[in-house]
Amino acid sequence: MAKALIIGAGGVAQVVVHKCCQNPDVFEEIMIASRTKSKCDALKAKLGGGPVKIHTAQVDADNTVEVIALINEFKPDIVINVALPYQDLSIMDACLATKVHYLDTANYEHPDTAKFEYKWQWDYKERFEKAGIMALLGSGFDPGVTGVFCAYAQKHYFDEIHTIDILDANGGDHGYPFATNFNPEINIREITANGRYYENGKFVETPPLSVKKEYNFDQVGQKDIYLLYHEELESLAVNIKGVQKIRFWMTFSEKYLTHLRVLENVGMTSIDPIMFEGKEIVPLQFLKAVLPDPASLGPRTKGKTNIGCIVQGIKDGKPRNYYVYNICDHQEAYQEVGSQAISYTTGVPAMIGAMLMLKGIWMKPGVYNVEEFDPDPFMEALNEHGLPWQENFDPVLLD
Ligand SMILES: NC(=O)c1ccc[n+]([C@@H]2O[C@H](COP(=O)([O-])OP(=O)(O)OC[C@H]3O[C@@H](n4cnc5c(N)ncnc54)[C@H](OP(=O)(O)O)[C@@H]3O)[C@@H](O)[C@H]2O)c1
Repeated sequence: MAKALIIGAGGVAQVVVHKCCQNPDVFEEIMIASRTKSKCDALKAKLGGGPVKIHTAQVDADNTVEVIALINEFKPDIVINVALPYQDLSIMDACLATKVHYLDTANYEHPDTAKFEYKWQWDYKERFEKAGIMALLGSGFDPGVTGVFCAYAQKHYFDEIHTIDILDANGGDHGYPFATNFNPEINIREITANGRYYENGKFVETPPLSVKKEYNFDQVGQKDIYLLYHEELESLAVNIKGVQKIRFWMTFSEKYLTHLRVLENVGMTSIDPIMFEGKEIVPLQFLKAVLPDPASLGPRTKGKTNIGCIVQGIKDGKPRNYYVYNICDHQEAYQEVGSQAISYTTGVPAMIGAMLMLKGIWMKPGVYNVEEFDPDPFMEALNEHGLPWQENFDPVLLD
C-alpha cells in the first residue's frame, strides 16, 4: 500500500485520480496538488469517502522549494506529474532532494522555446541512480503505450525491427468548430512545429503538416493523417535496437486545419510576448483562455480513438508485419471517469506505470522510458484497466 502525490488537476489528472481510487490495494492515500486548489477540491468532493484517502493542496510546481515542502509534509512514495511539461525539471529536482520516485507523461520543454527533447531529463540519470530512486518518463499513451507496444513487438514477434509507424486517430466529434483535446497551448505548439522522422540513424525534418496520407482505421474509418514529430521517436530510436525508420502520424480534419491556419496567420499561435493594454501577454496563452477547456469536452464528445503501431521487420528469416492498437470510446470513457478518451488514454497508463513501480515490478534506480522495461505486465494491465488492445498480422502498410 502506497501514497501518491498527483501534481496537476486538469483533464489527465482527473483520470489518474479516478483510476487510483479504483485501485485501493495499491494507492492507499493520494494527494492532489495543483496551481488552482479549487480544482483539486472538486475532485476530492467527487471521489472522496471511498477506501482511498484523498488530500488536496495548492502548489506552484515551477517552484522546487514549494514542491519539496509538500513532499516533506505528505511523504509520498511517488510523484505523478500530470501538470505541464514546463514543470518536469522542477519536480524532478524536488524528487531528488527528497528521494521520492517520479513519473510523467510528457517530456520537458522550456516555455519560451517550442522544442521538446529528452536531453534535459536523461541528464538526471546518474543523479537518480545515486539517490536510489526511479523516474519513468512518458507513461501516457503516446508517448507511453506506443513505446510498450514496440517493446512487446520486439519481445514476442521480431528478431529485427526495421520500420515503426505510430498512428494516432481521433474519430471524436465534440461539436465545437475548433477545440483541442488536451492542453491547447501544448497541443498547438506540437502541431505547428516542423515535422520530423527518423531514418537510417538521423532525423529528417519536414515543414509543418506537409506530409499527408490517408488511412482506414478500424472502427474510426478513413482519415487524413499527417506526419508529426512526437517525443517517443527520440527514445525509440535509441531503445529499439536496429530500427531503421520511425514515423508518427496523426489525424486532423480539414475543418481543424483551416481554423489552425487562420489562427497562425493572424498571429494567435505565437509564443512571443506582446504588449496589450499595458500588460505583456503571450498570444497562444490568450488563445488557450478563449478556447473550450479540454476538461469540458467530455460530455459532448462522441466517437472513438484508435492509436497503435505498425511494425515491420524479420522473424525467423522471413519478413513480418504487425499492427497493435487500442480503440477507446469517448462516451464510455466519460461514463466511467467523467473525461473524454484523450485524457482517458493518457491517465490510465500513468496510473499503470505508477502501479508497476509501486509494486516493484518496474523498479530500478535511474531515469527510464517505458520501452526499457518488460512490456508484458503493462500489456496485461492495459487489458484489465480499460485500454484493451488488438493485433493484426496482415495490416495495410504505409509506403
Ligand atoms: N503522453 C500522452 O499521451 C499525453 C496526451 C495528452 C496529454 N499529455 C500531457 O499530460 C499533461 C496534462 O495534460 P492535461 O490535458 O491534463 O492539461 P490541463 O488540462 O491543462 O491540466 C494541466 C494542470 O496542470 C496545472 N498546472 C499548470 N502549471 C502548474 C504549476 N506551475 N504548478 C502546479 N500546477 C500547474 C494546471 O493548473 P490550472 O488549473 O491552474 O491551470 C492544470 O490543473 C500535459 O503535460 C500533457 O502534455 C500527455
